[in-house]
Amino acid sequence: MIKLTILLCSVSALAIAYPNAGTAFGSTNDTAFVNANINPNTTKVVPFRIGDQNFTFSVNVAEFTPEVSTVIVDPRVAASFYAIEWSGGSGLGDIVGEAESVASNQSPRLCVSLPLGLLSASVNNDYKEENNGDCSGALGKDCVNDLMSMSYELNSACTGSLPQSCMSKLDTGGIGSARLTYLIVNRVTTAILSQVSSQNSSSQMSPLDFSYWSSPIYAAGNDTYYQREVERLHVVIFAGTQNVPVCLRVKTDHVSDKSPATSGAARNSRIGLTSAVMVALGCFFMLA
Ligand SMILES: *[C@@H]1O[C@H](CO)[C@@H](O)[C@H](O)[C@H]1NC(C)=O
Ligand SMILES: *[C@@H]1O[C@H](CO)[C@@H](O)[C@H](O)[C@H]1NC(C)=O
Ligand SMILES: *[C@@H]1O[C@H](CO)[C@@H](O)[C@H](O)[C@H]1NC(C)=O
Ligand SMILES: *[C@@H]1O[C@H](CO)[C@@H](O)[C@H](O)[C@H]1NC(C)=O
Ligand SMILES: *[C@@H]1O[C@H](CO)[C@@H](O)[C@H](O)[C@H]1NC(C)=O
Repeated sequence: MIKLTILLCSVSALAIAYPNAGTAFGSTNDTAFVNANINPNTTKVVPFRIGDQNFTFSVNVAEFTPEVSTVIVDPRVAASFYAIEWSGGSGLGDIVGEAESVASNQSPRLCVSLPLGLLSASVNNDYKEENNGDCSGALGKDCVNDLMSMSYELNSACTGSLPQSCMSKLDTGGIGSARLTYLIVNRVTTAILSQVSSQNSSSQMSPLDFSYWSSPIYAAGNDTYYQREVERLHVVIFAGTQNVPVCLRVKTDHVSDKSPATSGAARNSRIGLTSAVMVALGCFFMLA
């Protein structure tokens, strides 16, 4: 967490070029983004369980025209949107409380952690379509077993810390972490701090849009950022009293280390900069 705090200060200026670029926790109420999430170009859904409760994790990927003034002719933005869904008509706090068998005088805990950098080509390629959410192929059995054997006190903070066996695979650009129960953030940008608001999550009904990634603005016809989101491995680690890692690729095409979906490409291009912006936003959230 300290590492990310320092980065926040050093890279926040990058975010000003386009306030929505990078990863943010919570959902956005920017109209173009909201509409893109409602009508994405493509989507993928995988199941996961917390305790005996069934959830799904979905990633929507969209390319659309941003509603901002820009010198770029025929501007586009690519974005991915993360959501969880559950059935049964309960609020998030209630269903997580049941999953964790929380007593009525205790608050349920649900944190989410995301790698903020792109992952290596081999980690991407080790995820297969038939894994259907399971991370053991991509991250390896050691990392997944070590993650799942960690446990947390109900009232402990969200840390985003990883076992050693996962570090080289997941910590390529920092880990962002946020609490999903009791704190629902509507909009997080470094430019508009005052719009961050929190509310009691017991009444948050399914689905919960909890995070999104946005590219910088680019000229129509360049598919780099769209391809980045469609082909990359998306990893989220949900953590109540125990970690539940969930993995997803929208398209499971084989990627080379030159693909914009991999950390190999990020090292050599402007795409690397956006992961710095992501750290700024993820970090801000952890401090909020
Ligand atoms: C995504 O959908 C929009 C709107 O339908 C379309 O203009 C755009 O070309 C699509 N982009 C890709 C990469 O499919
Ligand atoms: C979750 O799904 C499994 C089957 O996939 C089912 O057996 C189980 O009853 C479900 N749990 C709940 C709480 O609905
Ligand atoms: C949406 O954004 C506007 C300002 O653009 C803000 O006043 C409003 O509170 C936001 N609403 C939500 C639900 O975040
Ligand atoms: C959240 O709301 C539920 C039901 O509306 C209530 O029982 C609970 O005490 C609230 N929790 C907090 C932290 O305000
Ligand atoms: C597309 O955008 C990326 C990132 O800005 C850039 O590196 C690449 O050169 C662009 N490709 C084309 C064909 O303009």
